[in-house]
Amino acid sequence: MNYDKALAHNIFQVIGSTADEMGVEAYVIGGFVRDYFLKRDSKKDIDIVAVGSGIQLAEKVARKLKGRPEVTVFKNFGTAMIRHGQLELEFVGARKESYQKDSRKPVVEDGTLEDDQNRRDFTINALALSLNAKSFGELLDPFDGRIDLDKKILRTPLDPDITFSDDPLRMMRGVRFAAQLDFTIELKSLQSITQNKERIAIVSKERIVEELHKILLTEKPSNGLGLLHKTGLLQLILPELTNLQGIDEVEGQRHKDNFWHTLEVVDNIAQMTDNLWLRWAALLHDIGKARTKRFDKKIGWTFHAHEFVGSKMVYKLFRRLHMPLNDKMKYVQKLVLMSSRPVILSEEHVTDSAVRRLVFDAGDHVDDLMTLCEADITTKNLKKQRKYKNNFKMVRQKIVEVEERDRIRNFQPPISGEEIMKTFDLRPSKEIGIIKEAIKEAILDGVIPNEHEAAYQLMLSEGKKLGLKAIAS
Ligand code: CTP
Repeated sequence: MNYDKALAHNIFQVIGSTADEMGVEAYVIGGFVRDYFLKRDSKKDIDIVAVGSGIQLAEKVARKLKGRPEVTVFKNFGTAMIRHGQLELEFVGARKESYQKDSRKPVVEDGTLEDDQNRRDFTINALALSLNAKSFGELLDPFDGRIDLDKKILRTPLDPDITFSDDPLRMMRGVRFAAQLDFTIELKSLQSITQNKERIAIVSKERIVEELHKILLTEKPSNGLGLLHKTGLLQLILPELTNLQGIDEVEGQRHKDNFWHTLEVVDNIAQMTDNLWLRWAALLHDIGKARTKRFDKKIGWTFHAHEFVGSKMVYKLFRRLHMPLNDKMKYVQKLVLMSSRPVILSEEHVTDSAVRRLVFDAGDHVDDLMTLCEADITTKNLKKQRKYKNNFKMVRQKIVEVEERDRIRNFQPPISGEEIMKTFDLRPSKEIGIIKEAIKEAILDGVIPNEHEAAYQLMLSEGKKLGLKAIAS
């Protein structure tokens, strides 16, 4: 079969003719070909394999392109990269690995296309289309990857134990592709993941996290997370999550399985938002529950302060996985810490001041917090479900009302420290803090409106209480 339609972009002609001039074979391989057959949006990063020097091919191709783009060479990997418009072209020479009798370390040598295909992760990622003029668009598919695409199967080209030990990240890539593409991992490959799971330890945390992000961003993340769990990988990567698994029973009272509950929450939130970090917050919102679980004879199961414990665990987890300890981490921490606040609030009579405090504490993240709480509803009891949803709806309405009136979000005190100092002729001192705090509390409690005049009057009376004298203005 000829698939030259896949190669409509002019760049493929240029690469093909350059390869012809050099007398080498060139192919487009990997994700681009896979996604063409899957009719997914065509990929912007394109992998080219040359049976010969990939670097030389890249350099010659670059000379023919408009603007003569720069070639970035990664000598250690034998690869070269060219940016061409939106495209990122990655060139590599076909390679094979062979083992010397006296060494367990493989020697990487030049190889044929098939040698190169052998070394790839999955049959569906080993499909290659020829770029040379005489066979332009011809498919080279030695492992029936095309059939696997139709059958929606992930299978390694070689014995999975070999493919996965070549690069253990491939175990996670397999799970991620299964989740992204809604494919099944073939039994032998799946068993091999379970057997080789410990090898994930040699993979860099950054690469692991990259795959976790991709799994979390799928339509139904529980598919991927469930597979990670089934193979035992999740226990190694995110033990905080798997520790939530299990149901205890004391005196006939049981609590829910917080692991499977969490997966449901993540699926729910995936329907509501594409915000990766909000999805992370959903994944981690209950991680403090394993440590705080207690049985109280009077109340039953409790997880007292699990939100606080959980938010501390978020920091450790991010640090362990080498995730940036920046505002994203703080955002996840904050949502975990506040994850029960709207619940408590909605269970009681929703007062204005409680809503004001919620908005004050959550700031700009208050809507995301509400989304997290709504996703947290996993009860199968329809009556309860309706009730909880309605309660949150009321809280959301109240947030809008209070916000319109009092502008609490990103609260700026109506009286500045400077104005207090001027009024009472003060140097920087603790009295200023006391007065500011009293004004803020009065606004949050609804004792005074969030306005300058009312705050000014309160400042005068608070100052008096502290024995301060206002100087005439
Ligand atoms: N590959 C591999 N083993 C890996 C990573 C990549 O064999 N651990 C091969 C596969 O043939 C893959 C190609 O290199 O198709 C390109 O890798 P990459 O760009 O990471 O992935 P894609 O398959 O292109 O897909 P995605 O962009 O969705 O990750």
